[in-house]
Amino acid sequence: TRQWRGIITEYRDRLPMLGPDTPVVTLGEGGTPLVRANTLSEVTGCEVHLKVEGANPTGSFKDRGMTTAISKAKGDGAQAVICASTGNTSASMAAYAARAGLVPAALVPKGKIAMGKMAQALVYGTRIIEVDGNFDDCLNLARALSEKYPVALVNSVNPFRIEGQKTAAFEIVDALGDAPDIHVLPVGNAGNITAYWKGYREYAADGTAKHTPRMWGYQAAGAAPIVQGAPVTNPSTLATAIRIGNPASWKLAEQARDESGGHIESVTDRQILRAYKLLASKEGVFVEPASAASVAGLLQATEQGRVDTGQRIVCTVTGNGLKDPDWAVAGAPPAVSVPVDADAAAEKLGLA
Ligand code: F0G
Repeated sequence: TRQWRGIITEYRDRLPMLGPDTPVVTLGEGGTPLVRANTLSEVTGCEVHLKVEGANPTGSFKDRGMTTAISKAKGDGAQAVICASTGNTSASMAAYAARAGLVPAALVPKGKIAMGKMAQALVYGTRIIEVDGNFDDCLNLARALSEKYPVALVNSVNPFRIEGQKTAAFEIVDALGDAPDIHVLPVGNAGNITAYWKGYREYAADGTAKHTPRMWGYQAAGAAPIVQGAPVTNPSTLATAIRIGNPASWKLAEQARDESGGHIESVTDRQILRAYKLLASKEGVFVEPASAASVAGLLQATEQGRVDTGQRIVCTVTGNGLKDPDWAVAGAPPAVSVPVDADAAAEKLGLA
């Protein structure tokens, strides 16, 4: 047994975009748990696993793409990096920028960033600009700034992000011995579905995996441009991480969907919250609401009778629940209090 060394060192031979002289800026990202989901397996009649990306160093899958993007930026002599973000990208960028000695700047939609993510960006020393607009406006602004000023853009339109994020598919095949039949994940700006599909295709191309999975992507119903076939001007969902109306990797997500024989559909906020609670209370996995969109989608497809039993399914849960705990606290019964007395406590606990 040895310590996991981060995705660049673990998969260097599969990351040809990184030259031999590119420095490695890492926090040991990747190597995340693939957890068998017993309740979901029972409900679906399938073998369901969760790829728990909230176990990454800053609590989301973004770290896989940020180790590569920041390493590249550092190697190229950048002094500053910038991103648009619904929170996780900025948190991850800031951590890796801190390690690399780069100045991080983030453009975020005003009032729409979960507190935990804002705290991360702040403590790592990010210059945060709150934009009076949504994520799509922030991304347009970030692109414009990076074109005109000496600052490197590290959103998933940066190909090094996709390169790093594809390693999650590698880990899944390495763990299961082959690709799953179906891979389910939330879709926001659509970089991650693009990255997984690239990873699965690369492993199938050289025979490491015998096949590729069908890719099932889920958007939030109030922010479902790919499902509707048109940009959404005012995206709205409690899953703020995927509150995106005009995804940058739209075409590539459609390509992943079509080439894999999959689909991209939507789930309501109510379905997202139901899956969010099930994941925590039945599987022991606390995720942020956006992450639960994958599981909400799987449950929806099951209820519609579209999931054949006996299949092997992996759901990516993209971010840690502690980033956005409001939804765990809201709707929970109030705590009861007792004096320092075992009998009183036992009574309240229903043990007596
Ligand atoms: N889940 C979480 C927790 C996310 O933070 C994001 C994206 C997604 C899913 C969707 O992934 O964009 O690759 O389709 N968050 C970005 C951000 C937009 O700024 O942190 P995607």
